[in-house]
Amino acid sequence: MKITVVGAGNVGATCANVIAHKELANEVIIVDIKEGIAEGKALDIWQTAPVNLYDSRVIGSTNDYTKTAGSDVVVITSGLPRKPGMSRDDLIATNAGIVNSVTDNIVKHSPNAIIIVVSNPLDVMTYAAYITSKFDSKKVFGMAGILDTARFRAFLAEALNVSPKDIQAVLMGGHGDTMVPLPRYTTVGGIPVTELIDADKLNAIVERTKKGGGELVNLMGTSAWYAPGAAAAQMVEAIVRDQRRVFPVCAWLTGEYGVKDLYLGVPVILGKNGIERIIELDLNDEEMALLRDSETAVREVKTAYDNMR
Ligand code: NAI
Ligand code: 2OP
Repeated sequence: MKITVVGAGNVGATCANVIAHKELANEVIIVDIKEGIAEGKALDIWQTAPVNLYDSRVIGSTNDYTKTAGSDVVVITSGLPRKPGMSRDDLIATNAGIVNSVTDNIVKHSPNAIIIVVSNPLDVMTYAAYITSKFDSKKVFGMAGILDTARFRAFLAEALNVSPKDIQAVLMGGHGDTMVPLPRYTTVGGIPVTELIDADKLNAIVERTKKGGGELVNLMGTSAWYAPGAAAAQMVEAIVRDQRRVFPVCAWLTGEYGVKDLYLGVPVILGKNGIERIIELDLNDEEMALLRDSETAVREVKTAYDNMR
């Protein structure tokens, strides 16, 4: 198994570190356009192998995609992160150029790879990779839902003073402030969360989750990386170990939930072929209205991108 992570920045390096640490591949290749950075981060990660006791080989490359040849899974994290005051959508023009050129190189050297996009604005950058790669949509998808549900689950674990391991949640929609956490599908050790927390507190946690990325940007002056890197690595794990995990994933919709020709976060089964199945929940009217709002927000960014390409 060979995995490439493009972008040796905060998210990419964290993701590669988790992938190597979990021995998800024999070879982990990190690529960056900035001279020496991928080689340096790869060497640093590789030097944790004797300490953390794994043998996945980690190799860095400055923009030489021949080293990535034959990758089974490629994670694209290259692109600018948000600064305070910026929305994810402000990144569209710059990051689309980066994602498209990276995807071209990936397709050339790893025609059978599964592509996981992380770069923002996530839903539309995933679309850009899909259009450029011309791969089957089941093999091109984006990471956001695992991160956004992780934030929701972490906030709930704190509020309820329980283990985050026991909190299961579903979240849908775009990776932006219109994302739709779904309390009706959220459980704590199998108990509906609504039985354990009052409505006001739950609503406050839902709102905090929707702005969870911005909270971190305001604290750090750039966007998050530990949870995003780990979340992308969890998707890689589901694929390379054919786990058939059920995760919210940014997937190409062809009529599911009444949404057509758009990448949007929905629950899926993730396995060796990528998206094995999109799960259609029986959303109530209120949930469906929230999903429509999110669809509208993502569609606006997609239209802006379509008009500039
Ligand atoms: P960063 O600035 O730390 O790293 C980005 C890296 O991409 C840099 O090392 C840069 O040299 C590299 N790069 C730029 N152009 C490249 C190209 N053409 N080829 C190869 N490498 C190139 O940024 P960070 O924090 O790692 O974030 C990366 C992206 O991920 C951003 O767009 C950010 O908004 C997004 N993000 C998405 C999340 C999600 O949930 N989907 C969560 C967190 C970040
Ligand atoms: C995040 O949610 C900015 O998308 C990035 O942390």
